[in-house]
Parts: sequence; C-alpha cells; structure tokens
Amino acid sequence: MSAGYPPGPATPAAYQVLKWIQGDEQYMLNLMKTYGPVFSIKLASKQPAVVLADTDIIREIALAPADVVQTGVNLPLRPLVGPASLLSLGGETHVRARRMIGGAFRAQHLDSHVEITRRVAAEQSERWSADQQVRSRPLMLKLFGTAISEMLWGFDHAEEAERIFAASEEGLKLAADPAFGILMIAGDPNAPAVKRVMATRTASLHSEIRRLIVMLKRDPRGLEGRKDFMSTLICARDKDGVGFTEDELVDHAMTLTAAGHETSSTATSWLFDILAHRPELQELLADGADDKVGSSELYKATIYETLRVRPVVPATLVVAKQEMQVGDWMVQKNAGLLTHAFLTHMNPEHWTNPSEFDIGRWESRKPGGYDWVPFGAGPHRCVGSQLAVMQIEAVTREVLLRYRIEAVGPPEGGTTKLVTRCPANDGPLRFVRR
Ligand code: HEM
Repeated sequence: MSAGYPPGPATPAAYQVLKWIQGDEQYMLNLMKTYGPVFSIKLASKQPAVVLADTDIIREIALAPADVVQTGVNLPLRPLVGPASLLSLGGETHVRARRMIGGAFRAQHLDSHVEITRRVAAEQSERWSADQQVRSRPLMLKLFGTAISEMLWGFDHAEEAERIFAASEEGLKLAADPAFGILMIAGDPNAPAVKRVMATRTASLHSEIRRLIVMLKRDPRGLEGRKDFMSTLICARDKDGVGFTEDELVDHAMTLTAAGHETSSTATSWLFDILAHRPELQELLADGADDKVGSSELYKATIYETLRVRPVVPATLVVAKQEMQVGDWMVQKNAGLLTHAFLTHMNPEHWTNPSEFDIGRWESRKPGGYDWVPFGAGPHRCVGSQLAVMQIEAVTREVLLRYRIEAVGPPEGGTTKLVTRCPANDGPLRFVRR
C-alpha cells in the first residue's frame, strides 16, 4: 500500500477544473488509460479528488460507514434544493428522511406515476410538428416537467403545479450557468454571495410551494389514498410518529421537481438520438409499442444500455471524513471521492468493447451491480431509479406508436449542464408520422 494519493495529471488545477466543467469525455478516458481506473485530479484548491472507475473500490466506498465517508456533499445542487433535501443530508438524518420518502415510491404509486407519464406523452406527442427538424430535449423537458408537476401535486392542482414548475426551471437554469458552476466548484457553494443569489431566485417559488402545501393539508377530502408525492410526504411519519416540517417539505418538493424530470428528460433525449441512428432496433421496439410497460426485455435492455453509454449524471461525490484506504492508497481526511459512472461503464475490465452500444450484453446481465452506476451507488443511490426506467419506457412506447425517429445529422456529442451530461445540440431529429 502507498501513502498519499493515486497518480494523476500534473497540469495546472485551473486546466483540470475547466476540463471537468466542460465534461471532456476524451480527456477523462485518456486519464483512465494513462493512470488506470483510480486516479487523482485537482478540482478545488485544498485537496485533490480521487476518481473511481473500479467496481471493487466503488463498492467499498458505497458501503463505508457514515463516520468514514461523508455523503450528501452535493455541492452544485445544494443552493437550489436546500439543506433538508435528501441530496444534502448525511448519516442518520438522511436515513430517516429516506425511509419516510420511500413510501412515495411503492408499487401502486409507481403505476399511477407511470400512467400519468404515459398519458402526458400521448397528449403532447400528438401535437408535435411531424416531418420537420425538432430538438428532442426541450420537448422531453416539457413532457417530463408536466408529468412531474402532476405526480408531485395531483391533477386537481395542475395549474399551480405548472407555475411552480416554470419557476423551478428558472432556478435550474441559473444553477446550470457555467459561471455559477465555476463559482461553486472552484469557490465555495456556501459563500454568502451564492446563497443570496439563489435565495432571491427561489423566494417566490418557495412561497408558491408553501401555499400549495397548505392547500393540500386543508383539502376537505383528506389526503388518505392520494398517490401524489406531496400528499404522501405530508402524511409520512418517522418511527417516533414525527412528520416532516414545512421547511423540509419545501426542500423535498424542490428536490423531486429538479431530480425527477431533468435527468429522465435528458436520458430519453439520448435514447432518441441512439434510436434515430439504429432504425432496425427502432422497428423491433415499435412492433410491440402498445404492450404494457415492463413487459418487454428489449425495452429494458435498450434503456439500460443507453444509460451505460450515455450516463446522464457522469459522477457522484462523497468526502473522506478521516484518513482512509482507497484501493492501494491511503488518502487524507477531506479527500473528494468521485464514483465516475461514465468511466466505470467504459472500463474494459468490466465491459467487453465498452464503447459499443450492444443491447445483447443485457441477455446475461442484470442492472444493480457496481459496474453499472447511472443512478449512483451507496446510501444516496437514486430513489427514483425504477420509476425513471418505467417512465422512459412509457414515453418511448407512446412516441414509437406514432412516429419513426429519423436522424438529421451524426450522433450527438455531449455537453455538461451543471451535473448532467446532455446532447450538445439538444438532440436534433425528425419525428416522421407512421
Ligand atoms: C434517468 C433518470 C435519472 C437518473 C440518471 C438519476 C440519477 C441519480 C443519481 C446519480 C443520484 C445520486 C446522487 C448522489 O449520489 O449524489 C440520484 C439521486 C436521487 N434521485 Fe435520481 N435519477 C433519475 C431519475 C429520478 C426520478 C424520476 C426521481 C424522482 C421522481 C429521482 C429522484 C432522486 C432523488 C430524490 C435522489 C436523492 C436520493 C438520496 O440522496 O438519497 N431521480 N439520481
């Protein structure tokens, strides 16, 4: 075992920060090729961060106890989603909130959310401009945005939900601004200036959310039996019978709005780009498009493989709380540990011909191991992962029922927006009526 950090590039920190913010995939692949699947990069001035693309080490870090590894670090999103968000909490407080929220993702709730998504997809896709060049990502953001608003607040509050969603989009846009990103990654996300800017942007949004929470609580029909996320969260109790405070509910509403639509929209946009360049696969999927969501291994394999080659969240971060062993190295307290989904998925030790899109590989594999981590790994692994896969399938089925997806150029490259990896040109393509 060696003391200190794994090897990494000697280039100036500013250059490495720039490459990170740009999300330069080739740069990261070259680093993995040069230094192996565990290497150091300089992202903040204090400590290097360790990039992990090795399943054994990712598993160790994911299972590390809360006194060894600090989770809920969530630098870029914290100013938007707030301190009580699942993404910002760590240790016991995270475990409590996560258990309470878990009820909202039970099977019968999932069916209701998938049905909302399917209906919204049917309604909106019917109105798309057929046979013309369009960009799929904005269409997906609108579609998944409408769906998450209704999933969050219920159909009878659709108008207010729509307003909240529009306001939250503004917050997301600011958070995704590269200048804001540099300030948070290279600077301090808790700096008063960052907090002030975000507080100004989110003030009216928060008061809308509070108003809607009060409306829900006063609903004379009661909240029992409702399937929307916020009714379930208002009713949720911990083991001592204590519910979420209003401040906590606001942060959960912000989190589910942000985490529950941007990622799924972007993943579906990547999937459409992939299908546009694979007409044979598209036709196979279209053949069974009106079957039930979840009934087809082909749909699942296509979505899993899309998330493997095009993970929407390329990396997630935790921090060493003490000096700790990471593979062959001992890293110091405060070292950042980045589970890198993209590099893990491109690691030839874990995947044969990793850069090839091959749905056949899913005949002999199941998702869920530490070699496939598009939903993260460890205590913060995406609570909506099952729902997301089902929603993407529902949307794809509705679209393929109506359209053939045609390419209008070469496959899309990627660009990074805050924490997500998006098609660089927002997914230009043509929907041709069947
Ligand atoms: C393709 C779609 C999606 C992707 C790629 C994705 C990815 C992720 C990732 C990587 C994390 C871990 C973050 C970390 O460790 O810091 C995460 C967490 C989370 N996701 Fe998702 N997500 C998706 C869809 C959804 C949906 C549909 C919902 C809810 C409606 C959702 C809600 C959440 C929440 C609440 C967390 C925080 C969990 C925690 O901190 O305990 N996500 N997601």
